[in-house]
Amino acid sequence: MVDYVTDMSTIRPIIILPDPLLRLVSKPVTAFDARVQALVDDMFATMYDAPGIGLAAIQIGVTERVVTVDVSPKEDEQHPMAFINPQIIAVSDELNIHQEGCLSIPDYYEEVERPAAVRIRYHDANGQDHEMDCEGLLATCIQHEIDHLDGVLFIDHLSRLKRERVIKKFIKAAKRDCDA
Ligand code: NI
Repeated sequence: MVDYVTDMSTIRPIIILPDPLLRLVSKPVTAFDARVQALVDDMFATMYDAPGIGLAAIQIGVTERVVTVDVSPKEDEQHPMAFINPQIIAVSDELNIHQEGCLSIPDYYEEVERPAAVRIRYHDANGQDHEMDCEGLLATCIQHEIDHLDGVLFIDHLSRLKRERVIKKFIKAAKRDCDA
């Protein structure tokens, strides 16, 4: 397992498609200790550095159900949110189409249709229970990140043709990097 730095956060490498880790189902967090706080801190450091608006722990190779999000506009103050063991407990009938991207699938963007609003239940880093209503960009982002915890990528919501095309492209790129 990974060694966590507890006195300062560390920017971790983000794993990229077609890394098979991205398809693993992450395990619930059961101990809300300094290690989880350190993981959350590293995830924020990694997410802001990328930069991205959301990150799931599996994207830094940690198979735990931890998500960080900050959907505040760039010019505004940071609004970091950490969700441990997040679950969608209700979804709106109304759907919304947003253009999505993923730090693990760099420079690829496609429109994805998802419920426009969701209600989630989650723990904070201290293990406290919360519920939250999400809409707009936050709703899209949290659904995208919770998908990651189940080994699902946003390209899985696209047509098979589009999905296979992007996977092929990344397999070729990974081969090129190995040969170089
Ligand atoms: Ni992603």
